[in-house]
Amino acid sequence: MLKFANRVQDLQTEGALQVLARAKELEAGGREIIHLEVGEPDFPTPGNICQSAIQAIQNGHTKYTSVRGMPALREAIAERASKRRDNIPLDAQRIVVGPGGKPLLFFPAMAILNPGDEVLYPDPGFPTYREMIKIAGGVPVPVPLYEENNFSFDLNAFDRLINQKTRLIIINTPGSNPTGSVIPPEDLKHIAEAARRYDCWVMSDEMYENIVFDNLQVPSILTLPGMDERTIVVDGFSKTFAMTGWRLGYAIMPKELATRVELLLTHGTGSTAEFTQIAGIEAMTGDQTECRKMVEAFQVRRDRFIAGLNSIPGVHCLSPKAAFYAFPNIKSFGIRSSELSARILNETGVALLPGTAFGQYGEGYLRLSFANSIENLDKAIEKLRQFFKNIK
Ligand SMILES: Cc1ncc(COP(=O)(O)O)c(C=O)c1O
Repeated sequence: MLKFANRVQDLQTEGALQVLARAKELEAGGREIIHLEVGEPDFPTPGNICQSAIQAIQNGHTKYTSVRGMPALREAIAERASKRRDNIPLDAQRIVVGPGGKPLLFFPAMAILNPGDEVLYPDPGFPTYREMIKIAGGVPVPVPLYEENNFSFDLNAFDRLINQKTRLIIINTPGSNPTGSVIPPEDLKHIAEAARRYDCWVMSDEMYENIVFDNLQVPSILTLPGMDERTIVVDGFSKTFAMTGWRLGYAIMPKELATRVELLLTHGTGSTAEFTQIAGIEAMTGDQTECRKMVEAFQVRRDRFIAGLNSIPGVHCLSPKAAFYAFPNIKSFGIRSSELSARILNETGVALLPGTAFGQYGEGYLRLSFANSIENLDKAIEKLRQFFKNIK
């Protein structure tokens, strides 16, 4: 058999994709499945954004653009991103656009890490972090997020783990995937101080910054003293504008890093689709009504769904402050979360993810997306209630 490179030997997939494949198999066999496994808004992309893309295609905007992104889009992003982050000055040269948020996690990691560099990242956390660190030759060092600490970084562990070899710290706030947690301002300050002391980069994944509940105001680590020169903010259009399939994301970073990331994009993906970027300008600057309504709907669903989960004996779930994920504690049943999630899918038709799809510290939890209709969420709660009542 022909050989593969070491870097892909133990590469893991995303749990959501595996469960989705199994759920589709069951559906093909005639089973009714409630999909709470995928991490995408169930709302359509707002009409004004779709229209601008259609028009752009009709007007012939179907060509290559600057690899870093169209200047008009980068300016629109810089203006909005600055407003949302205490009006910090943001030059459009610091914005890099790419096909989704993922490449803007991946390429900065490739541009920063040398073999052996350690990277602190949240566990449970978005699965791409660990894999991209490994591909870039870095050493993944998980920092646990504990329920007792509202799933914020465990700062004791963080202080123990950071050292001279730490080159990058990844945080995911507001709205960590999979817990929906927010890192409180005093903890952010602590992380920023450590980053300055050890002279490391910080990657702040703020993909859910617009899906925040109860009018909570959350600071970005970018605005803290001395962080401008060492922070990469990763954000995008997938969640805020229900544009997961359009593949459009961006990151804010120091200019010198932007130049290197642009080179990696040049050879890795080339430019992002022109009409998609034009739709992105409409998303940034156009009517925001549909997006606001979507967040309001997520908040109503969150309240109802979390109350439903907590009404099931043996299940305990914190209320997420952002994003659209519930992360209930199911430790009382004494069954591993991978086994439990497989049994729930097979026996009830509710597709969800084991907490361990997000790292070892996710054991004892499940992740359920509430980006689904109230009707389906209610149905799922009743199916889960029956399942847990009869569990052996
Ligand atoms: C925390 C987090 N970061 C980044 C991404 C990637 O987003 P995109 O679809 O824009 O690549 C996701 C998507 O699920 C996410 O949950």
